[in-house]
Amino acid sequence: MSALAIKRLKIVLFLVCLIPLARTAWLAISAVNPIEFITHQTGTWTLIFLLLTLTITPLRQITGRNELIRFRRMLGLYAFFYVCLHFLTWLVLDHFFDFHAIIKDIIKRPFITVGFLAFVLLIPLAVTSTDKMMRRLKRNWGRLHKLIYVIAPLGVLHYWWLVKRDITQPLIFAVLLGILLAWRVVRRQRAVAAATSGARA
Ligand code: HEM
Repeated sequence: MSALAIKRLKIVLFLVCLIPLARTAWLAISAVNPIEFITHQTGTWTLIFLLLTLTITPLRQITGRNELIRFRRMLGLYAFFYVCLHFLTWLVLDHFFDFHAIIKDIIKRPFITVGFLAFVLLIPLAVTSTDKMMRRLKRNWGRLHKLIYVIAPLGVLHYWWLVKRDITQPLIFAVLLGILLAWRVVRRQRAVAAATSGARA
């Protein structure tokens, strides 16, 4: 794929990723409880973007299309963008900057604790997502970005814990995440096995 085609696709992807925001804003106007609606939408889209980010590598390995990697950063940054909106909705609209209630919520409600931890862990990944940081951190960049394997399960756990009855939705996210992580484990084991047999030969 040419550099121009990738550039154009990136612009398209950038705009497509804004559709959930436009849809949320539009539907929130007529929602019975707009704050709850925005919280749920932004939370769901954070999780979707986290999973989409994790889908790029398997997709690249299956299709052999290495250029897919060029879209991963944007998807990850959109996950961060939506979690910022999610967090700000909770902070500003839900708690009106009542810091006593905010701290109490983070400490006392396990699903908030876990969500907050996932959010905090995402910050260094977003901050170091630039080419400059990638070059500066060298191998540590890869190590740091492995945090995504902690963040995504925390996000699913956060969702699982907050659901009171019907666990279908968090279960779907958990299964999808399980597949994405299992794929990596299997690939790694195969690579190690191939390297060991190669070394013996
Ligand atoms: C990576 C981090 C996070 C992810 C992936 C995430 C994801 C989600 C999801 C999927 C939902 C449920 C949406 C639905 O019901 O349709 C949700 C709800 C919620 N999240 Fe998060 N979230 C994250 C971080 C946070 C943070 C940092 C806070 C606040 C400190 C927070 C507070 C909430 C609240 C208050 C709800 C609604 C709970 C309810 O309905 O009772 N989340 N989140």
